[in-house]
Amino acid sequence: MEWNHWRSEFPILSRKVYLNSCSLGALSRRAEERVLQFHENWHSFGASAWYETWLGRLVELRTRVAGMLGAGLEEIALCHSVSSALATVSSAIDYSRRNRVVVADLDFPTLAYQWMVKPGVEVVRVPTDDGATVSLERFRAAVDDRTAVVATSHVFYATGAIQDLKALAGIAHGAGALFVCDGYQGIGQVPVDVRAAEVDVYIGGPLKWLLGGPGLSYLYVRGRLIGELRPSTTGWFAADNQFGFDLARFEFKPDARRFELGTPGLHVVHSALGGQEIVDEVTVPRIRERNRHLTERLIDRARGAGFRIRCAPTPESRSAIVMIAAKDPHGTVNALAEEGIIVDARPGHVRVSPHFYNTEEEVDLVVDRLVELNA
Ligand SMILES: Cc1ncc(COP(=O)(O)O)c(C=O)c1O
Repeated sequence: MEWNHWRSEFPILSRKVYLNSCSLGALSRRAEERVLQFHENWHSFGASAWYETWLGRLVELRTRVAGMLGAGLEEIALCHSVSSALATVSSAIDYSRRNRVVVADLDFPTLAYQWMVKPGVEVVRVPTDDGATVSLERFRAAVDDRTAVVATSHVFYATGAIQDLKALAGIAHGAGALFVCDGYQGIGQVPVDVRAAEVDVYIGGPLKWLLGGPGLSYLYVRGRLIGELRPSTTGWFAADNQFGFDLARFEFKPDARRFELGTPGLHVVHSALGGQEIVDEVTVPRIRERNRHLTERLIDRARGAGFRIRCAPTPESRSAIVMIAAKDPHGTVNALAEEGIIVDARPGHVRVSPHFYNTEEEVDLVVDRLVELNA
């Protein structure tokens, strides 16, 4: 793969040293063109653009996402955010006989919040021993016949550690619980085959590694489970007879679209298609290899320069989110931004997240500047 060939697709790369893709993936020319096309169709067709093209774009996006995840088209829903997808799924689960939900202490908070607000549901937080990962033993010890759901991340947002989905699914299913995975930091940078991993629910979105922008999320629900789940949060996009406008009768769609609510943001559907097209062309396994190369180089160089790194123990369990300990993370991030180097701050750390379009030189530069800034 000629990696540098991709750089001209992303205008920000000629303006900045952009190393914050785990917050927001770079905008591509292709995504921009898709959005322009969306506007053109709006100009040309008005509301009938829905039938001329836009409904077709929803199918195209669900088809591409299904292909990337190893899922069937009927197992994918388009939602508005990871939080809203979680809210809908969590509203469909019966907590009367099992009222516990097990999450990890390193998960993104929105995951735990879904269940913390539900009366009678108890959220059990599985601790981390090393600050970067959560062991399977710890999960095993926390899950029992009171557990309704094990809900945790594919990749931890703050440490980049990759979790073993199949093992977690085994722990959940062994106790008769569901396995819900927040895949927002995994999707697009780490390959996932939802069927092989045996996850029940996997949620991601285009914002980060999929280069598609904010305002949309992807929800996979395992086929056999779909019919059993009847959300109590819903909308007309979930209705079987959506265009019958029948106020007297409601039945869910038979497929995963029963977890959808209302009109999706068509701008982001189009920018997401542009980003997805690029990811599908590069392919996630190749992105993983490239990102692993850049990540390991970054870690080696930073460690060589004396920095402490908060990360998983092996390259196989690390992803392209690197937490470098710093005395003044916000001051350092601001100083780097003044020089056109974009990274992020998290408590006690500067967070650097390269993607396939970054170069070795950019990764080296950020370490050199951290040394010079005495970070
Ligand atoms: C792992 C993870 N989950 C969930 C979220 C929040 O997603 P949303 O704002 O779409 O609810 C984030 C945001 O950065 C995240 O990193």
